[in-house]
Amino acid sequence: MIEQDCTVVSNDVVAAHTYLMILDCPDIASEARPGQFIMLRVTSAADPLLRRPFSIAGATAAGHLLILYRVVGRGTRMMSDLRPGKRAPVLGPLGNGFKLPRGNEISLLVAGGMGIAPLCFLASRMDSGLHLLAGYGSADQMIPLEYVGIPHVHPLLATEDGTVGHHGLVTDLLEIHAINRTKPGEKRGTMMYACGPLPMLKAVADLAVKEGTPCQVSLESVMACGLGACQGCAVGSAPENGRKYVHVCQDGPVFNAKTLDWDGI
Ligand code: FES
Repeated sequence: MIEQDCTVVSNDVVAAHTYLMILDCPDIASEARPGQFIMLRVTSAADPLLRRPFSIAGATAAGHLLILYRVVGRGTRMMSDLRPGKRAPVLGPLGNGFKLPRGNEISLLVAGGMGIAPLCFLASRMDSGLHLLAGYGSADQMIPLEYVGIPHVHPLLATEDGTVGHHGLVTDLLEIHAINRTKPGEKRGTMMYACGPLPMLKAVADLAVKEGTPCQVSLESVMACGLGACQGCAVGSAPENGRKYVHVCQDGPVFNAKTLDWDGI
């Protein structure tokens, strides 16, 4: 874990109320793995006091970190005002990250809304056998993937208002895709990766169990410290783990879906 004052390279609107911030952060970028996150303080001053957690949406060989965020309150509004050249203190990379697929496994990435951020980073580290399913509320929230360095990935889209792609939820697409995938004689295993709102994650985890497909989920949580000190990000753990709770910041944010108590989250 590294604490570094990072310089804003760019900070531009990429979708409705959504920005892509690129930070010059060579030490953290060189260590970052898909699924990990950073804690970023919008200003060196003590207001807003707490750091905010952000998934890493990409890390480049040039030492840049890509952060996708939606403006939802005062902290993120202040963040959207940071112009190139400004500095922001960053702590990271934090958390465990995704386990990458083995051999010729098919990877099925399922994103809901801003849950696409860590999956963009994951997709950037995969070669082939990758399918991305992305769900948004509406077409104007869609993140153009060329902005996050994966123009070669062509997602299957779903929107709740039907303005682009399938009219409905991304989990509908997942069911259709799952049915198409079960071909007789298919030898390749599949690994599911998911990030998004909790109801979506529960639905993905359910389907994965039904299919017997391994599934890694990245949980989004409010985090005050990001370091395992405040207990604020505790979620229920499946009884067979011998622990009642796990911490999203330290034990996650990526979990094997089978190890969570989905009723206790
Ligand atoms: Fe404080 Fe996880 S955010 S323990």
